Amino acid sequence: MTMARKKLLLGNWKMNKTPSEAKEFALGCSEMVHFAVSHGIDVGVAPTFVCLQTVVENAPKDLIIAAQNVNEHDHGAYTGEISIPMLKEIGISWVILGHSERRTYNGETSLACNAKIKALLANSMTPVYCCGETLETFEQGQTKAFVAKQIEEGFAGLSKEEAEKVVVAYEPIWAIGTGKNATKEIAEDTIASIRSVLKGLFGEQTAEKIRILYGGSVKPNNIAEYMSEKDIDGALVGGASLALDSYRGLIENLVK
Ligand code: 13P
Repeated sequence: MTMARKKLLLGNWKMNKTPSEAKEFALGCSEMVHFAVSHGIDVGVAPTFVCLQTVVENAPKDLIIAAQNVNEHDHGAYTGEISIPMLKEIGISWVILGHSERRTYNGETSLACNAKIKALLANSMTPVYCCGETLETFEQGQTKAFVAKQIEEGFAGLSKEEAEKVVVAYEPIWAIGTGKNATKEIAEDTIASIRSVLKGLFGEQTAEKIRILYGGSVKPNNIAEYMSEKDIDGALVGGASLALDSYRGLIENLVK
């Protein structure tokens, strides 16, 4: 049984843009956000913490604005961390979790992400849970098993109702920022396997509702290829999401 899943484009700005640069983007994206929404597509960006508020204040309300991480505790002695109540107060309800850069540089594990996913869902927020393998794992043919474990750990203990609210992003590490994007066939093959893991955990109906994005060197000139695959519901885009022109190109080619 196939159900229509709404397409989603999310720009991950990583550690780019000062607040004034983020504001400039926010002020300049109204028309393209309107275009996307009128075509039934969800679009968003994930600025750094210090840029979130200015993007909230200056972007059209339909632009999804996500944080790039969050702490699962509401408050306390966690120097350098940001909590869910802090994000909620400035109007943020989406958070990227478990990006490979955070796994690599900040030691973030799937189990740590699981606690954050639960905390976000308890606050009616949307986690975007990232998974993906290294080049070595890919070359050893271990991608599906590796990603399955990330999914099982990240989704551990969730109910079906909770699971369907999570967005998954499959980002092979070897394709991130390298210009060496996974082919649409590779992306679809892995993403279909993720959906079948989700089916095993939560049943077909729930698995069919979960949006799964591809990420890794997605550009305006290749985004359409991914969208033609049946299990790929959108893209998580780094470099090509930073400039307004390029972001517009992603949207235009996504709706085609
Ligand atoms: P690039 O699009 O720059 O390869 O980055 C992908 C990514 O990591 C998005 O989260």
